[in-house]
Amino acid sequence: MRILFATFVATFIVSCSSRSINDITARRTSIIPSTLPVATPTSPPADGLRGDKQKQTKNVHNFFKAYGWLKKNEDIPEAELPAAIRKIQKVLKVSQTGVYDEHMDTVMSKPRCGTVPQYDPSESLNDTMQSRYVLWGPKWDHTSITYRFINYTADLPVSQQRSLVSDAFARWTQIAPITISEAPTSAPRADIHIRFMSMGPTEDTYAFTNMVADGLALSSGLINITFNDDYTWSDDRLFNYTAVHEIGHALGLSHSKVEEAVMFPFFEGVIRPIHPDDQAGAHGIYGWRNPRWIRIDSVVTSKNVIQISSAAATPGMVDGLYQLRSTGQILWYNPSGVWTSIDNNKDTVQITGSNNVLYQRHSDGTIWKYTTSSSSWQQISPASANVLEIYAAADQLYMRRKDGWVARYSGSGQTWNTIQQPSAPSSVQLAASDSRTLWNLLANGDLVRSEWPYTANGWQIVNQDSTNIAIAVGGEEFYKLQSDGSIVWLDSQEWYWKTIEDEGSVRVVAVGRYVYSRHVDGSIWRYTGTPGVWEMLDGRADSATVVGGRNGEVCEVGTGGDIWKLIS
Ligand SMILES: *[C@@H]1O[C@H](CO)[C@@H](O)[C@H](O)[C@H]1NC(C)=O
Ligand SMILES: *[C@@H]1O[C@H](CO)[C@@H](O)[C@H](O)[C@H]1NC(C)=O
Ligand SMILES: *[C@@H]1O[C@H](CO)[C@@H](O)[C@H](O)[C@H]1NC(C)=O
Ligand SMILES: *[C@@H]1O[C@H](CO)[C@@H](O)[C@H](O)[C@H]1NC(C)=O
Ligand SMILES: [Zn+2]
Repeated sequence: MRILFATFVATFIVSCSSRSINDITARRTSIIPSTLPVATPTSPPADGLRGDKQKQTKNVHNFFKAYGWLKKNEDIPEAELPAAIRKIQKVLKVSQTGVYDEHMDTVMSKPRCGTVPQYDPSESLNDTMQSRYVLWGPKWDHTSITYRFINYTADLPVSQQRSLVSDAFARWTQIAPITISEAPTSAPRADIHIRFMSMGPTEDTYAFTNMVADGLALSSGLINITFNDDYTWSDDRLFNYTAVHEIGHALGLSHSKVEEAVMFPFFEGVIRPIHPDDQAGAHGIYGWRNPRWIRIDSVVTSKNVIQISSAAATPGMVDGLYQLRSTGQILWYNPSGVWTSIDNNKDTVQITGSNNVLYQRHSDGTIWKYTTSSSSWQQISPASANVLEIYAAADQLYMRRKDGWVARYSGSGQTWNTIQQPSAPSSVQLAASDSRTLWNLLANGDLVRSEWPYTANGWQIVNQDSTNIAIAVGGEEFYKLQSDGSIVWLDSQEWYWKTIEDEGSVRVVAVGRYVYSRHVDGSIWRYTGTPGVWEMLDGRADSATVVGGRNGEVCEVGTGGDIWKLIS
């Protein structure tokens, strides 16, 4: 085979040196089990508790109360503690040893929400159900909900508390078809009241919401969100976060079993943004805002739609939605609603981008880069018949080649470095994590990965399964799609495969903390974080794919070339 890129010659010699793919196959021991390994503690304490038993018992009880798993004034018998601990470990997605562990302690020693939902008789100590969190049941029977401050904390200026709470309410009105406003002073009461109260030195909850329902509806004027004024509320992020969580209760949401959700009852020191599980909860109660989608383009020639979404806290100038038309024209979607042409070259066959950079590939194999620092396109690869596809992730650009190899742009000039063993079967798909771990799905279904900086012998076989047909990485999380329509997630901490979708999927897309699947019937689904629980975003039959951003932006591309944007 002729080596087309002059710069490949040098790296070829390095990566070809001594090892072959056989060295990789020898390492089959790294293959991952498909069930959570059950660690058996050497001498399990009969009650599952070790160390500070009093504190541990209290934590276990608090956890149970936060989910309504205990009747009022009920205690867990000592003999049942290991079962109770296993139930908690299941929620926290760690090995169910039945022995109080460090992770549980870290989670449960943090301040928590003191809201106690109604007792849920369907939850028993040793149930095996993989249920999502239960919605409260009662909800508001009107859609214009009012609130009022009863008093304020001395920790923050009043005007700031008012704007933070108003902003926290807006998180929910963006999701559900409800409106929220401050009650006029003339009104005798508001639906929801907000107050600050000292709860005493032994109280470790940062806030609670008491829910009073009259049958099916929440009772106007009886819903109080109470912040514990013994905490300092001068951190406006903590204040905002707590407000978003408590307002979730005041709208009828219970506690989530998804640790990353805002409605998870323990505050682990991380300000969590609204999670797909929170969204699914609000939709479950109030439905979706109408319209749910708007059409932002209807040109039959749109071909390749991408969203560039940097991991940085502040979005980059090049971040955004782009489409390539079959005419070769590249357009950027201005959030004001207009598509702006940024290049128009009949030779363009593919676009990709990440980390504030947009790339295009021409039919002759040349690759071009667009950044804001130079307003023109810069050529970063010579013409070559060897290029199949380019793929940008994190701050890297990779290339899949017809000879089966993978190459990486060096970052300067037109120099590329190969990172695939020459004797490996062809690469069919690449996916890379934010920390640049490169995953490579090979034609025979083998999954290999290499960690930055991809040394010549760095490929490790992770899985050998001929039913693997596609892969996706969101942030650091890895997913694979199998030919039976299932989607499997890799728990990289406990190191096992977990099926998160049983059947029906023909495509998986991951971005940041979001995972989407397209089903064979054309419907589009979003993963809520609980295995088996996905929320349907669209049931139409003619969607071809879904494109997402790190902040939850979602677009759908129809088989006819229509582009729709999710706005609810
Ligand atoms: C556990 O399940 C068994 C039957 O499946 C039941 O008899 C037993 O009472 C349950 N234990 C608890 C603590 O719920
Ligand atoms: C706010 O009002 C409650 C009564 O609803 C009272 O217990 C609490 O002390 C008040 N807090 C402040 C900071 O005034
Ligand atoms: C809600 O707060 C108000 C004002 O502090 C208080 O009078 C009322 O008793 C509280 N309601 C409940 C159900 O706690
Ligand atoms: C408040 O928190 C929400 C969700 O946690 C976040 O999306 C929002 O940007 C925050 N707002 C402010 C003003 O910090
Ligand atoms: Zn709560």
